[in-house]
Amino acid sequence: MNARVSASVYTSHVPAIGAALDNDKTAEPHWEPLFAGYEPSKVWMRDNTPDAIVLVYNDHATAFSLDMIPTFAIGTAATYAVADEGWGPRPVPEVQGHPDLAAHIAHSVIQQDFDLTIVNRMDVDHGLTVPLSLMFGRPDSWPCPIIPVAVNVVQYPVPSGQRCLNLGKAIRNAIESYDEPLNVQVWGTGGMSHQLQGPRAGLINAEFDAAFLDQLIADPANLALKPHVDYLREAGSEGIELVMWLIARGAMADLAGGSAPTVEHRFYHVPASNTAVGHLILAESGAETP
Ligand code: DHB
Ligand code: FE
Repeated sequence: MNARVSASVYTSHVPAIGAALDNDKTAEPHWEPLFAGYEPSKVWMRDNTPDAIVLVYNDHATAFSLDMIPTFAIGTAATYAVADEGWGPRPVPEVQGHPDLAAHIAHSVIQQDFDLTIVNRMDVDHGLTVPLSLMFGRPDSWPCPIIPVAVNVVQYPVPSGQRCLNLGKAIRNAIESYDEPLNVQVWGTGGMSHQLQGPRAGLINAEFDAAFLDQLIADPANLALKPHVDYLREAGSEGIELVMWLIARGAMADLAGGSAPTVEHRFYHVPASNTAVGHLILAESGAETP
């Protein structure tokens, strides 16, 4: 039996959320409603722990600088160190990779005409570790191997929504052609509306975010046609991180002619730091729970 995609998970990755967790502030009035929104997710994850996660995120000038800017990069390493982003590395477990599945995905996706950069050594920043913390809490080790897929959404030009959706479809094909019965989740992270600098710093657009979530669930093919400038104008300069959610969405069965996923959890909260936090869990409707 081959590997299969069982679910996709979407969440913001705000660094202050990591700091709140690491410094035991989750019960404080400011943070409590945010973390309460992830309680059902942690329960769901305990019941649906995958064998591996393809975690789509963006590096924030941590592993990559302006010296080198891969549009799409896949981590093929056995381990990834937790990055020091200026305050020392977060006190979270080292990230274990899945070199064999990652190499297979790289091979398959490149043969499907995507130019992936192969990364054999990379520190992972809040873009990857904060989503893990939100979904798994504070374990001694992460419960499964992680394959990081880093997307450039920091320096223009950034990939289109359509290309991201298509990459998700290619990742699904790659997973389904892996000759081991693994339960694999694909995660899309970043967003939702936020702008961290300039005259519009602090921008939040709850109406845009709600419409994005609705369309991501029900009409991803048309959502993929949204041009960059719409994200920039409506969701702020860092709202463009949302294109990464289309990679995870593209990996779901309905975009390959299968049935629509079921919404296991949907959550939205403003604010966390400067960002509107959005979160979705979509499970394949045909997927049996392990
Ligand atoms: C914030 C949000 C981000 O997505 C990020 O990468 C850094 C900071 C924030 O809201 O503070
Ligand atoms: Fe970010």
